[in-house]
Amino acid sequence: MFDQLFPNVFRPMPKQVDLDTSGLSPDNIPQHIAIIMDGNGRWAKAQGKVRTFGHKAGAETLKTIVRAADSLGVKIITAYAFSTENWKRPVTEIHFIMELLSHYLTNEIQDFNDNNVQVRFMGSREGLPPVIREKMDHAIEVTRDNTGLILNLAINYGGRAEILHAVQSLARRVQDGNLAAEDIDTAVFEDSLYSRGLPDPDLLIRTGGDQRISNFLLWQIAYAEMWTTHVYWPDFTPAMLLEAIASFQKRERRFGGLVQK
Ligand code: FPP
Repeated sequence: MFDQLFPNVFRPMPKQVDLDTSGLSPDNIPQHIAIIMDGNGRWAKAQGKVRTFGHKAGAETLKTIVRAADSLGVKIITAYAFSTENWKRPVTEIHFIMELLSHYLTNEIQDFNDNNVQVRFMGSREGLPPVIREKMDHAIEVTRDNTGLILNLAINYGGRAEILHAVQSLARRVQDGNLAAEDIDTAVFEDSLYSRGLPDPDLLIRTGGDQRISNFLLWQIAYAEMWTTHVYWPDFTPAMLLEAIASFQKRERRFGGLVQK
């Protein structure tokens, strides 16, 4: 279905992203940016096209933004590609997103490799088609040694499900006598999350006009700065990323404490 609808492959990541970074402070670039890529369906509808057209365009945008983020010095992008709630969508749309993902993981890996991007995933493998799981493993394997930006794709991901999954695995360890309940601290808990080993996001970007979290990274965004825009994800540009980072740099992050004067 994917090839019939969209025979053309994705554009390669831009070699260079021209941005005026003169207003940015290079020593305060958010290390980790999380993105809720919303508005694909509305973007397509506004052009009289089917919703899936918007997802294809959204996947293109993600590549451009990964390239731009890398050139700005961002280390990690966590992008919400498919939530545990997205299974409620019409089966044709779910199939399309899975095919899009399958295509992305097969055909775009070379492009990620050429750009030194390391691909990771967060979310439950249960319920995902076996072919997707295999391609995810392959993408991890092939890009494992890349030292550039980490693209962490949240697929079949839900924040509550992630926390429950962590609680269950810790409870099992306690039950088996391998962990004392009082030893469960922040570090031990975080080690049981899908985001194990990654720092928390500094900045959370949401496109598409809504001002909500939608079950994304509930634990990890405790102190993330939020930046939202009405722009639909396929129209999101590197210049808008720069704008979000500039806004981040103006914020005073106190993490619950007081500012040192
Ligand atoms: C939200 O737009 C987007 C999704 C549920 C899917 C996100 C998927 C992509 C951007 C494609 C990325 C895919 C890969 C392969 C990495 P929406 O459908 O909720 O839009 P709407 O709010 O306008 O209905």
